[in-house]
Amino acid sequence: MKVLITGGAGFIGSAMCRHVVGKRGWSIAVIDKLTYAGHLSSLGKFSGDPRVAFIRADICDRNAVDEAFSRHRPDAVIHLAAESHVDRSITHARDFVHTNIVGTATLLDATRAYLDRCSPAQKDGFRFLHVSTDEVYGSLEGDGYFTEATPYEPRSPYAASKAASDHLARAWGTTYGIPVILSHCSNNYGPYQLPEKLIPLAILNAMELRPLPVYGDGLHVRDWLHVEEHVQALLLMLERGRPGECYNVGGRSERTNLHVVQSICDILDRKIPESKARRTLISFVPDRPGHDRRYAIDSAKIETELRWRPQGEFEAGLERTVEWYLGNREWWEPIRAAGHGTKRLGLLNETSK
Ligand SMILES: NC(=O)c1ccc[n+]([C@@H]2O[C@H](COP(=O)([O-])OP(=O)(O)OC[C@H]3O[C@@H](n4cnc5c(N)ncnc54)[C@H](O)[C@@H]3O)[C@@H](O)[C@H]2O)c1
Repeated sequence: MKVLITGGAGFIGSAMCRHVVGKRGWSIAVIDKLTYAGHLSSLGKFSGDPRVAFIRADICDRNAVDEAFSRHRPDAVIHLAAESHVDRSITHARDFVHTNIVGTATLLDATRAYLDRCSPAQKDGFRFLHVSTDEVYGSLEGDGYFTEATPYEPRSPYAASKAASDHLARAWGTTYGIPVILSHCSNNYGPYQLPEKLIPLAILNAMELRPLPVYGDGLHVRDWLHVEEHVQALLLMLERGRPGECYNVGGRSERTNLHVVQSICDILDRKIPESKARRTLISFVPDRPGHDRRYAIDSAKIETELRWRPQGEFEAGLERTVEWYLGNREWWEPIRAAGHGTKRLGLLNETSK
């Protein structure tokens, strides 16, 4: 199996690369622009592996994408490259339109041109896995869950750009016959996540006894899934999912942001005790504009159709993640030193127009 993975130097992309090369022995071609969010060090020992062809390119660059298809002749595309941080999307919305919408359209067009040059058998087995987010469904205010039939109601520039890319992927599937499969996953956590996102930011700040800002009242709910479990769900979709279908993926682990940050404090207090409990570092700061209140996923479709189930072991996964950050300073220190995650983004007085 030879797969073209976009965004393979990012958080989920690198987990995918490490998994398919390390555990399955696949050959991969990775297209990644290496934005502030992409780091070759996230590929770990597989950076430089002969089974990994790394192409530093923008997915909006049609020539570079065409060249990658011609040279590597993949059996599938796993499309993970994106601008992914909601706060950043409020401050720099156009970057999200560029990569998430124009980039996805470019990749779909290049896929179409490539498939035209493939044999019918190759075309038949080919899959384009478009990795998207539950945020396209908007915000849940009370009980209830997002299903695959939930109408789109994106509320942030990030979610809107991902929703647009979903529509493009579906349209290229129905119009041009590209075998597209879509996934909508809830919040991921785990190793190699950039410390601009809630969990790694809280871990590093709590480790260094810095302030722990929590947005609004801290009672926004996310459904957490370990990145390794997400990777396994994606591979099931790739291998056994039905083209044209969408699958929701969730962790059955709904927690408030405040609970998550408090849990990180408690884990670190146990591992490296300080004179003061780390919970005292928590402060409530102005909320994110348009902050979605709750996301929760109904994964019944992937559970019944593809026999995937989340383990729902958030506390144990969080503890392992804290341990990973404690033991892998050489990965995050240079990123932290470059200033990522140190400045609050997404406040309206700082947005570019
Ligand atoms: N992180 C989550 O909780 C989560 C949940 C559900 C879905 N997703 C989706 O999964 C995908 C990956 O998310 P992530 O958290 O790993 O993101 P990330 O920000 O960690 O990584 C994104 C990667 O894409 C690369 N990239 C960005 N713009 C590019 C461009 N124009 N051309 C080529 N490469 C480019 C970056 O260099 C980086 O390596 C995204 O599509 C995201 O929407 C993420």
